[in-house]
Amino acid sequence: MKGKIFKLVAGVLAGMFLLSGCGSTTPTTVAGPHDVPLSIVADFTKKENKGGNWVTYGDCKITLKDGTTVITDRAASNCGIAVPCPDYRGNTVQASVKATTENDSLTVSLRYEIFGNVSYVNIAPGTPNEAGIVEITGSIEIPANAENSMIYLEANDVRDITVTSFELSIVGELNNLTGVPVESLTDPTGTASLSAAYANYFKFGVASPATVMTNPNDGFRQMILTQFNSVTPENELKPENVLDAAACLKDPAKYNESPAIHFDAAKPILDFCKENGISMRGHTLIWHSQTPSWFFYENYDVNGQLASRDLMLKRMENYIDSVINYCETNYPGVIYAWDVCNECIDDGGGIRQSYWTQTIGNDFVEKAFEFARKHAPSNVQLFYNDYNEYQGSKQDDIINLLKPIAAAGNIDGMGMQSHISSGLDPDYYISAAKRYADELGVIIHITELDVTAPKSQNPMYDQGVYMQKLFTAIIEADKAGVPIECVTVWGLTDDMSWKSSTKPLLFYGNLSPKPAYEGVMCAVNGGEVAKPADYVEPVVDTTPFIEDYEDKSFTGGPRYSSVQKIVGDAYEGEWCLENSEGYDTYDGYAVDVSNYAGHTIHVSFAIKSAADQCCLTADIDGTWPHLAEVPTGTGEWVFVECDYTVDAGATLQIYWESSDMSPFYLDSLKIETVD
Ligand code: XIL
Repeated sequence: MKGKIFKLVAGVLAGMFLLSGCGSTTPTTVAGPHDVPLSIVADFTKKENKGGNWVTYGDCKITLKDGTTVITDRAASNCGIAVPCPDYRGNTVQASVKATTENDSLTVSLRYEIFGNVSYVNIAPGTPNEAGIVEITGSIEIPANAENSMIYLEANDVRDITVTSFELSIVGELNNLTGVPVESLTDPTGTASLSAAYANYFKFGVASPATVMTNPNDGFRQMILTQFNSVTPENELKPENVLDAAACLKDPAKYNESPAIHFDAAKPILDFCKENGISMRGHTLIWHSQTPSWFFYENYDVNGQLASRDLMLKRMENYIDSVINYCETNYPGVIYAWDVCNECIDDGGGIRQSYWTQTIGNDFVEKAFEFARKHAPSNVQLFYNDYNEYQGSKQDDIINLLKPIAAAGNIDGMGMQSHISSGLDPDYYISAAKRYADELGVIIHITELDVTAPKSQNPMYDQGVYMQKLFTAIIEADKAGVPIECVTVWGLTDDMSWKSSTKPLLFYGNLSPKPAYEGVMCAVNGGEVAKPADYVEPVVDTTPFIEDYEDKSFTGGPRYSSVQKIVGDAYEGEWCLENSEGYDTYDGYAVDVSNYAGHTIHVSFAIKSAADQCCLTADIDGTWPHLAEVPTGTGEWVFVECDYTVDAGATLQIYWESSDMSPFYLDSLKIETVD
């Protein structure tokens, strides 16, 4: 069976080589196919590279103890251990990790190289319980062209971690790509330029890792030079890369008020922009994430006290001053805009609690803009940047936060990250841009655009059609006076995206343009996205969805961390579904109803829970309307019926959740169209 699958995939990839002709890389050939284990279990009784299946990741100390690894002296929040899985490229992999730690959270992440460019993707987060124990499980699709893949454990902080188990396994059937060379790159210089096409409207930018600049393969640099006229370093100007940990921690007294900084990571990309006359967006000065926790402690000692407000204000001002000053001195005029603060609004509303609020207080955003204005040259634009920024309640919070800063004249622009899906209504999105511009008197940059491809029969084509609609709306808004001055896509290719499995960008991994690129071009040049050769006429599947659990199976799945089990004590028959172990109320049981797009559905189900209320909720583009709110809490079954109209073209899940994370039970579930 394995052999058969291998041949199939090898055939597909071999076909791609022939098509992709003018490659600027020679495919890396790998030794012929060999057996790939379906799971890899780290063995902490064995030393690194001595059959233990694990390696040290970054700068830290590892001690093997009683079949666990104890990780200490972690120089940065991503230092620890990794489990290499280079042979798992082209597969979906489930990672399960069990650990004990005093860090507030751990994350399992994937690192891989795409033609020499390093990409990082978060797989799943976990929060330790009171005993510090955390179990994390998540899965990820590793791109077929990924090399040197490894899955590693990171934390929000540099405190110790004891890893008790770390296991990877293949989800579904194995694609054995061990003998298959990675694809060739296409020549990117033959593709018409986005920035030239949009020259009358706004800059067209891209986020890139600096490894693109040091890569011996220049295809990616050529692509930037051909396509884009603004570049955002994807990670290299974030505090975790700019703060000089070694210097600060070695001589905390010297750097106590004015943190040591360095640009080792950012230099290649700054040099590239300077040499090629490309403008750069600086991202980001102040952020709760990707900022080491030691930065917030007295003497940079995480075992001591948090720094006082006064000390943190000094560190903040000196950091902002010295970063801007370094860039202006060494790269004058390169950085035309800085994201001064990133993501300061909490998902639940109000200011996000972080080390910044704990040390300085809620006015840290105001202070950061005050310092940035004081130290930045007047031609450098100062931005606030956030995600889900198009959602109504988040707009209110952002506007409330920024109003006084705008009134003080300390902000020039609103950065709309725009990590969206192809279900988002472009008019709704544009109304947010207009509102920020009108109410704050600032310009707009779309800073991190990526668009999750729909789960449709023609995902690439449908994404292209959506991109045309979106960019048509952006152009119209720009013409109508909404001051959109730059649109940046968050990555060069799907494979390099931080959300690679959602295929959210404009170019395929081999640098060839996707229908999404074509849609963006059609919006400005006219025309329509061509239907690809493998286009299938969409069939709307309105077969009713029925689950009674009597055969002990279910086809929906967990929303985030929840766990589903078939248990007894049913509403009808013998078996029902139990949802439990969520970390949050919305970690429920989800069913995809995208196939009913354009129809009204009638949903009926029986539910029971100890929680006061259970809800049936729709998850559409970051809005979560309740389709049914069911009073539960008595432990009795409640039978519920409701109707909901699924928008045409929408990618949509509906999910059941309980108000206090208590387990809930579902039975007699039926979804059918009624129109
Ligand atoms: C992401 C990068 O793309 C990843 O490589 C990194 O591992 C995590 O950060 N909002 C932001 C960006 O402002 O800085 C984030 O970038 C994506 C979300």
